[in-house]
Amino acid sequence: MPHLIAPSVLSADFANLQRDCEMINNSQADWFHVDVMDGVFVPNISFGFPVIKAIKKHAKKPLDVHLMIVDPDKYITTFKEAGADLLSVHIEACNHLHRSIQAIKAAGMKAGVAINPHTSVSLLKDVLVDIDLICMMSVNPGFGGQKFIANTFNKVIELKKMIVDLKSSALIEIDGGVDLNNYKKLIESGADVLVAGNTVFGSKDPVATIAELKK
Ligand code: DX5
Ligand code: ZN
Repeated sequence: MPHLIAPSVLSADFANLQRDCEMINNSQADWFHVDVMDGVFVPNISFGFPVIKAIKKHAKKPLDVHLMIVDPDKYITTFKEAGADLLSVHIEACNHLHRSIQAIKAAGMKAGVAINPHTSVSLLKDVLVDIDLICMMSVNPGFGGQKFIANTFNKVIELKKMIVDLKSSALIEIDGGVDLNNYKKLIESGADVLVAGNTVFGSKDPVATIAELKK
């Protein structure tokens, strides 16, 4: 499968959200990556349902919603109603991860699990066949534009092996600090989806940058 690109809307210009959504529509990007932060699970607050609904109104590609919030179970159906196609919850925020995954699927979305840089991929073993995506954080979540953590390469290789061994169809998504210098090595290591915020929106020609990341 060719790898997928998911530009992170967190780095978009919120005063020109429609324009930036159309840029993604007209690019080779595959998904919209949508970061929800609650100021509790992570030291930042991003946006909530009204903004997701606004993105959904213009997006012609799936919304990949990454929840950086405590107690995500409370809001699963509301995220579906707001327009999420794929919903990722953090393993560190879920006491009953298996239940959360089942609830996401029952609500009609694809289910993802996000893991922080310090969390071992071995903790995913018993849910790997149940999920569609692992959102592997390659920075500490909370902000766009941070420096990529190099240990991610080892984690991707380890996780890919687990996925193959268990015959899981889960995709590995890399989130944080993805740029034009590390994206090829990430794909070679086993990544399937690359999130890119600052690299895309901080560039002169975002459409061309997405095309570059797609190569
Ligand atoms: C970080 C978010 C990321 C972020 C990535 O907490 O989960 O999705 O937007 O941004 P860049 O690509 O700029 O690191
Ligand atoms: Zn994210």
